[in-house]
Amino acid sequence: MVSRIEHQSEGIAGADEARKYAQNHRKYVGLMYRPMLRDLRRLGLSGRCLEIGSGPGFLAAMIARQDPKAHITAIDISPDMVGLASGYVKERGLEDRVRLVLGDAGDRGFMESLGRFDLVYSTFSVHHWKDPEGCLANIRRAAREGGAVYLYDLNRVWWLGLVPFGGREVRQLRGAYSSPELRSVLEKAGFTGITIRKHYGGLLQSVLVGAVGVAQ
Ligand SMILES: C[S@@+](CC[C@H](N)C(=O)[O-])C[C@H]1O[C@@H](n2cnc3c(N)ncnc32)[C@H](O)[C@@H]1O
Repeated sequence: MVSRIEHQSEGIAGADEARKYAQNHRKYVGLMYRPMLRDLRRLGLSGRCLEIGSGPGFLAAMIARQDPKAHITAIDISPDMVGLASGYVKERGLEDRVRLVLGDAGDRGFMESLGRFDLVYSTFSVHHWKDPEGCLANIRRAAREGGAVYLYDLNRVWWLGLVPFGGREVRQLRGAYSSPELRSVLEKAGFTGITIRKHYGGLLQSVLVGAVGVAQ
């Protein structure tokens, strides 16, 4: 198993970086989020939602469109991302159900000020967090009793060390947690009843906590 490379910066730094991320990311959104959107529909996860590290806001808009019952508070530590996402959501007329807020998932006071949610979710962000245990503990507390937490991220697959080239995608994968590492951080943050599933040949992983009694 190749060792994990820590990310240099937690947020996406600067307007140019944020725009570049959005441009690149836009090409893959349909495919990338498919397993997650399917899970949310299948498990009936909806209602008051909190998205952590929402980036350009594509997913929040997709969820709001797919599910008229969803009311989403979407937070990001990067002011540039919050700016981009606010514009994106407004252009699509979804601003009454998607609220963008600047803030750090690791800041307990800030997270508590947001209230409690039926569903707390996050995509491709966990491996960026400087204090994953602190962020995850805040996320656990942000889910109401009986609510659910759904995380979706890259997985540092064991065969990465056999890949004979570098490149942006491989570097990003090297920054990701393996499933056992992710489970261990979740447990340290106080989570129990964790289900981790792999997607797309194991390159992506999802974590579901809660949604007890719902068919899995
Ligand atoms: C790779 S991007 C993923 C964006 C989006 N969720 C997606 O699916 O494309 C990671 C995002 O997490 C945000 N982020 C990193 N650390 C954070 C923290 N502690 N609190 C809130 N957002 C954070 C970054 O600013 C960035 O927008």
